[in-house]
Amino acid sequence: MANIKKIAVFTSGGDAPGMNAAIRAVVRAALYHNLQIVGIVNGYKGMIAGNFVPLSSIDVANIIQRGGTILGTARSKEFMTPEGRKTAFGQLQKEEIDACVVIGGDGSFTGANVFSREYDIPFVGLPGTIDNDLFGTDFTIGFDTSLNTVVEAVDRIRDTASAHSRTFFVEVMGRGAGFIALHSGIATGAEAILVPEVEGEEESLFSYLKNHKDKPSNIILVAEGNNIGGAQEIAQRVKERFKDLDIRVNVLGHMQRGGAPSAFDRFLASRMGVAAVEALLDNQRSIMIGFKNHEIDHISFNKTIKGHRDLNRILLEVADILT
Ligand code: F6P
Repeated sequence: MANIKKIAVFTSGGDAPGMNAAIRAVVRAALYHNLQIVGIVNGYKGMIAGNFVPLSSIDVANIIQRGGTILGTARSKEFMTPEGRKTAFGQLQKEEIDACVVIGGDGSFTGANVFSREYDIPFVGLPGTIDNDLFGTDFTIGFDTSLNTVVEAVDRIRDTASAHSRTFFVEVMGRGAGFIALHSGIATGAEAILVPEVEGEEESLFSYLKNHKDKPSNIILVAEGNNIGGAQEIAQRVKERFKDLDIRVNVLGHMQRGGAPSAFDRFLASRMGVAAVEALLDNQRSIMIGFKNHEIDHISFNKTIKGHRDLNRILLEVADILT
């Protein structure tokens, strides 16, 4: 067993539903193993500022069902500098913290990886992002909830789309990745799904619209990270070619990040939180907890940062067959 007595947990980068469930799991698992546990407010920014809060079992009661993060989150430019990391280490030393659990995405893990190498302090990461774009895990905390939010929104849009015989372009988040678009597109029966991972999609969309002129309404799911532009720009080009189409654009935006986490995200976060504390006690460091084939997995920060998670080709085929 590692000589760890006190752990810090924090959330970093964009928030994701289920982060609170993850904080709760880390705190409860730490207390179960007789460790002291504190939270860091506002991610790396709070680490630099020495913004620590003690966390008891009661402090994390009734948060499993809440979206956002009780610890707050931030993207810190200062932590990217050697001076910022030096200050952060001083704060961790002052607080007598032996190890950290970071809940976030690849930017957060990159920071942890560098820091942990410079200052010899163990870090374990939990994948917390709605984008599901992290290499080494089938699911990230927040993706499932976000997907359900998108599905609900698109179902509603479809009602009005079919009532008015309109074509809707719905833009979803995902940064450079098309996981939210592809999965929600399949789940809502979208007529077309445009993701950054597939080239030539605009031409396919044009030929689809040409061949389905008799179809009164359409839902076109657009991933925000497309290099052919966002929903607004693509819709504009479609309008120029198909003047008869009655087109509307909806950018779903940050509503995709909020809301109560789904049962799956709560379950995933709970399992991962426990696994993170156990990994630290088992002397592991600079790893992310993953979930592969419905089992907990461990993957080095190096691999997850360098690796590229591609869309599942089978799902792309399914989408093709069904649209
Ligand atoms: O990474 C999560 C995410 O919601 C992305 O899908 C999106 O591109 C980005 O964060 C938005 O960031 P911000 O909240 O800073 O606008």
